[in-house]
Amino acid sequence: MELLERFEEEHEFIDSVAGSLYRWAEEGGDPEDAGRFARFLAVFAAGFHHAREDALLIPVVVRELEVPLETGPLKVIQDEHRLLESLSGELGRTGDRDVARRIARILWEHIDKENTVLFPEVEERLRRLGVREIDDREPSAEESAARELGEALLERYQPLEDPEHMRGAGCIICSAYSHECRGIEAEWWNRWEWEDHLGRDHEG
Ligand SMILES: [Fe+2]
Ligand SMILES: [Fe+2]
Repeated sequence: MELLERFEEEHEFIDSVAGSLYRWAEEGGDPEDAGRFARFLAVFAAGFHHAREDALLIPVVVRELEVPLETGPLKVIQDEHRLLESLSGELGRTGDRDVARRIARILWEHIDKENTVLFPEVEERLRRLGVREIDDREPSAEESAARELGEALLERYQPLEDPEHMRGAGCIICSAYSHECRGIEAEWWNRWEWEDHLGRDHEG
C-alpha cells in the first residue's frame, strides 16, 4: 500500500533526525538549534506525519478492521503522538537536552512498533478485505520547508545511537506491553485467527 510505503520512507528520515537530535544533546550542539529541531518535530513529524496517521490511516483501520480506538495498539500509538507533540513544545521553549534525549528514544520505539507490528498487521488485514489504497495528501509549503530543515540538521549532526536504548521488532520490546496493551494478538485477533495460527503451529 502506497500510503504505508510513504509512511515508512518518512520513518527512515525521522529516525535519522532523531539520531541527529541525540547527538546534539550528547555533544553540546548549538543551543539555537533546539528551536530548529522543535520546529521540525512540530511541523513535519507531528503536523504532517503523525497527523496523517491519525486522520487518514487510523479511521480506516477502525472502520474496516473493527478494532478499538480507545484501547490497545491504536490508543498507545495516538497517546505517543500527543506525548511527542508536548515534548517537542517543551524542547522549543526550554532547549533542555534531557527532553531531547527522551524525544529521540520515544521516536525510535514508536517507529519500531509501527514498522514491525502495526503496519504489517494493518496491511495484511486490509488486503484481505480488498482495501488496496488509502488517499493521501501532499505536504504544504510549510511542511516541505520543515522537511528541508530536518535535512539541514541531519547534515550538521551526524545521527548518533543511544547504546543503552534497545531496539527490536514485535510487542515484547514495547514499553506499553502488558500494562497499557496486551499485545496485538490478544487485542486484535479473533477466535478464527487464533485457531488458524495454533493449527499451523501444530502442523509445523
Ligand atoms: Fe506514529
Ligand atoms: Fe509513523
